[in-house]
Amino acid sequence: KAAVDAMRKELGRINIRGKVVIGEGEMDEAPMLYIGEEVGIGDGPRVDIAVDPLEGTTICAKDMPNALAVLAISEEGAMLHAPDIYMDKIAIGPGYPPGTVDLDDSPTRNVERLAKAKGVPVCDITACLLDRPRHEKIIAELRSIGVAVRLIPDGDIAGVIWTTDAAQTGVDIYLGSGGAPEGVLAAAALKCTGGQIQGRLLPENDEQVKRILSMGIKDPRRKYNLDEMVSGDVIFSASGVTDGSLMSGVHFRGDFAETETVVMRAKTGTVRRMKTSFRNIGLKMKGI
Ligand code: FBP
Repeated sequence: KAAVDAMRKELGRINIRGKVVIGEGEMDEAPMLYIGEEVGIGDGPRVDIAVDPLEGTTICAKDMPNALAVLAISEEGAMLHAPDIYMDKIAIGPGYPPGTVDLDDSPTRNVERLAKAKGVPVCDITACLLDRPRHEKIIAELRSIGVAVRLIPDGDIAGVIWTTDAAQTGVDIYLGSGGAPEGVLAAAALKCTGGQIQGRLLPENDEQVKRILSMGIKDPRRKYNLDEMVSGDVIFSASGVTDGSLMSGVHFRGDFAETETVVMRAKTGTVRRMKTSFRNIGLKMKGI
């Protein structure tokens, strides 16, 4: 709730005519940052906003690594309005020829093509997946061909972002199903850093199909590439909530709260890292 409050407050201060297209849910289930909510002072450019104020709710509750507060701002109509259902995803970092991975190919084919493009044997590839029973088959297939598998408890936006700096993170490819909103937010990050991602919505029942159609998506089983999930310019920002490999989390030091944020822009390719100290917040957040 604190993350939603803080994000809503900041969005209210900037001079945009913003509309939340990926948010906390529908108006009747989320009091703030609901889908369709208008934010900003209302006198600037029209922009679409995707938010995940707490990506990794469970990892945050357990004080485990890589919980993030994530936000993307694009030109109006430039981000896929993905409903909160599952999406099948595959992603790799920058520097590979287009079409190196394809959601319709087997994990083996994808990893083989990736290894060839990287100039390494398949056993030098590391794949990251959410640790879920639904991924058992893919995990077994990857292990059977010697691929190293990194399983994460939650937080697949970070999982995708790790592929953009394989030398540092060790992750070459992200695979598997997770939230569709997280898929679009991850695509926004890759739009800024380079890389490839494909996604396909995975409706589980008729109600979800109806919901997809009601959001203006004509083909519920369409395969989206990066430019179809995020077209045009986008700004992506992620702040650490708990400490993680991408950035530090929120730390309270006496009367100060310290945060670390990465802000990236697609048009310019800039990546900015900001460490911020907020005075008086430390005590306020602790209720003192
Ligand atoms: P929340 O912060 O909303 O809990 O999402 C965490 C997350 O792990 C996402 O990163 C991921 O896309 C999704 O949940 C996976 O869903 P599930 O936990 O149902 O497998």
